Amino acid sequence: MNKTVVITGATSGIGKALVELCLKANMNVIGLARDQEKALKVKSEFSSLTEGSLEFVIGDLADNQKAKQSGQKILSWIQEKHEGKLDILMNVAGTVTSGYHENSDGHEMTFAVNHLSIFILTRLLLPALKKSSDPRVLVVSSLSHYRAKMNWNNVESKKGYNILKAYKTSKLYNVFFVKEFSRRIQDVKIYAIDPGLVNTELGLKNTTWLAYTIWNWRRHKGTDVYYPTRFMVDVATQKEYANMSGHYIKAGKSIPPNPITENEEDAKKLWEYSEKCTGIRYDNID
Ligand SMILES: NC(=O)c1ccc[n+]([C@@H]2O[C@H](COP(=O)([O-])OP(=O)(O)OC[C@H]3O[C@@H](n4cnc5c(N)ncnc54)[C@H](OP(=O)(O)O)[C@@H]3O)[C@@H](O)[C@H]2O)c1
Repeated sequence: MNKTVVITGATSGIGKALVELCLKANMNVIGLARDQEKALKVKSEFSSLTEGSLEFVIGDLADNQKAKQSGQKILSWIQEKHEGKLDILMNVAGTVTSGYHENSDGHEMTFAVNHLSIFILTRLLLPALKKSSDPRVLVVSSLSHYRAKMNWNNVESKKGYNILKAYKTSKLYNVFFVKEFSRRIQDVKIYAIDPGLVNTELGLKNTTWLAYTIWNWRRHKGTDVYYPTRFMVDVATQKEYANMSGHYIKAGKSIPPNPITENEEDAKKLWEYSEKCTGIRYDNID
């Protein structure tokens, strides 16, 4: 039977390439998109790939309510069309943002989109994942997390905001989340993915002229979107990764992440902080 996969950030860059590869691997793809027109364009671009199926759910991940609504919409779709079962969740959506921006909950935007929304969405989709015989969750982190530090006095980069600092810290939290999740939940496998430098429009979207120009120059040194995504499909489907829950994976290989992510106390503290920020808890699943 075809696997069902949810892909966030499905209308551009890494997420869009994953949509294509998952369709080619005969999967039923549910893409999360914040822009209906972009979603329709992607649907039409891949309409000849009839091995699997592609549907989009329209939703945003910018604040708690929006992320929860997105999760509920996806869950309803899975219940209606896929007998309530989800095999793979790929948390790909992410942002890098010039200037300090707060969402409607008062959280810094990079922290909210890149970390809190993953905390919310993964929890909401857990009951559906638990119905799969081999459920797997991928979280796209980044090489930049190696340069980040844990600062409990400035968790959300609210003080002295800096675009790169906020981004790399959110990607550090992705690794902490993956590690803590793997300790708490054993029957759903989870992986932090390092895609390397990839030529996408990531740094062209919410950035000032300077950051835009730097990213526009730098991205051409990156790989194309198919390089990391082929490995990601392997991680989501191949047997060899079944015993690697909690690992940090780059180009298909498990490598050590930033050593500070091994600090279990910090991981637990960040988890509890995220519970407080979102009102989401991982106990009493089902
Ligand atoms: N490119 C790299 O070198 C690189 C390296 C390491 C990690 N990453 C990570 O890879 C992931 C994908 O990035 P990318 O490089 O492929 O860039 P991208 O093309 O800009 O993809 C980001 C995706 O996230 C979506 N998104 C952003 N904010 C959102 C929100 N509030 N609600 C819902 N969706 C939202 C975007 O939607 P739209 O299509 O509507 O813009 C887009 O589809 C990100 O997590 C990024 O941090 C990228």
